[in-house]
Amino acid sequence: MIIVIDFGSQTCHLIGRQIKDLGVEVKIIDPETPIKEIKKMQPKGIIFSGGPDSVYGKNAPSIDKKIFILNIPILAICYGWQLIAYLQGGKVISGYKEYGPANLKINIQQPLFNQVESYSKVWVSHGDTVVKNPPGFVILGTTDMVKNAACADFNRKIFGVQFHPEVEHTVFGKEILKNFVKNICRLKTSKRKININELVLDIKKQVGRKKVICAVSGGIDSTVAATLIVKAIGKNSYPIYIESGLMRLGTKKEVLWIFKKNLKIYPIIVEAEKIFLKKLKGIIDPEEKRKIIGNLYIELFEKEAKKIKDVKFLAQGTIYSDVIESKGTKKADKIKSHHNVGGLPSRLELKLLEPLRYFYKDEVRFIGKKLGLPNKIVNKQPFPGPGQAIRIIGEVTKDRLIKQQQADKIVLEEIIRGNYYEKIFQSFSILTGIKSTAVKGDTRFFGEVVGLRIYDSSNIMTADWSHLPYEILERISSRIVNEVPDVSRVVYDITTKPPATMEWE
Ligand code: XMP
Repeated sequence: MIIVIDFGSQTCHLIGRQIKDLGVEVKIIDPETPIKEIKKMQPKGIIFSGGPDSVYGKNAPSIDKKIFILNIPILAICYGWQLIAYLQGGKVISGYKEYGPANLKINIQQPLFNQVESYSKVWVSHGDTVVKNPPGFVILGTTDMVKNAACADFNRKIFGVQFHPEVEHTVFGKEILKNFVKNICRLKTSKRKININELVLDIKKQVGRKKVICAVSGGIDSTVAATLIVKAIGKNSYPIYIESGLMRLGTKKEVLWIFKKNLKIYPIIVEAEKIFLKKLKGIIDPEEKRKIIGNLYIELFEKEAKKIKDVKFLAQGTIYSDVIESKGTKKADKIKSHHNVGGLPSRLELKLLEPLRYFYKDEVRFIGKKLGLPNKIVNKQPFPGPGQAIRIIGEVTKDRLIKQQQADKIVLEEIIRGNYYEKIFQSFSILTGIKSTAVKGDTRFFGEVVGLRIYDSSNIMTADWSHLPYEILERISSRIVNEVPDVSRVVYDITTKPPATMEWE
């Protein structure tokens, strides 16, 4: 087993995921876990994650120094590496910020870098930097900005890297983690398996004879979750779709189609657009929008649940990235309250059932495929719970909602027409709330700027803007300014995540 010490990195769980994918057992633990307990787990390797703190911070997480004399190999990432340097007599300095891609040059080839090219792209995201190694460490690799980017104490089998091997933008990240597990920790690796029958059985055990309402949105996560639940408990499950008016155009029809045609089950439809708009009146803060929407959803689900006898559970399609980004782990910073995690009211009367809570998006797609769901669903772009409300910067009014839905529909149509739908991760328009000058029919016109966010990602924690052909961007821009009223300009967002999140709010 490998243990991962979670210092609060947003990507800590990607480390766990990568290790699991190697067919190796993994446990994520807090830095405060006593050394005695760590010893009892008998790990063959330890990974220190990154984290949002500076080692000089007042409440910066640390670790018992005895961990360094356990004679267990350690791979320390970003903050983890800075912490080792700090605790073991090296020097860390603050204010040497670096975010995004960097070029790693390997100076010393050795088993950690098996099959890793001498020059490769890595992903960095740090505010502090190790500038002097602790005694016993040598430099294995450097980036343009950081001399001590990959270091090792070969005697103690301790490795430190300033970059993040767990994110996909580190081109040889998978190899580095595999090399650590296989070549340094001497563990056998194989392919990870997902057992659908086990998932179904778990639901059966958890629910028994009680009834479950399944919150469905037409998206991949909630559809896969509901399908697993229908498989497990059949007629005791009640899919419910709330028409908030904030979804993409045509979503209600699609939900009816998915459940009637594929699962032979009629979802309950609750018409609620007016009430959503009323509650969002005058609200401009994104987190407040999320909380209002989350609360209203729950209120409406509970109302529906009361109409059915013996309902004990509310099922949601929460997946792991929702949990992480909504501060699901102890040391992680909260980025956004995804409504189905951080936005839930504490007085929830129903028990939560979240069969996909520990899976990533690509795994959910894999499960969906195994369950026989049509490609149209399996490959569907994710769509956020609060819907268009967080893509309309500022107040959500009926008028702006209509505009956003029209612009969003154009983006989607052109992405499909250009044959890019399955190549990209997500694509949408944003009503930016900014106005700019335009000339329409020889007349000066001061209208809203529409933003385009189109990007590639497989794990949600990181993303890169899609390098789409200019012709597609041109068609989207031209159609939006011509077909959507009061739009003066269209701009393309070319920011990676991190630092920019996918959604603007
Ligand atoms: P961010 O903007 O956090 O988005 O980089 C990551 C992924 O999460 C989606 N997202 C949400 N999904 N409720 C959701 O159910 C939310 O409040 C929410 N905010 C962002 C986003 O669309 C992307 O897929």
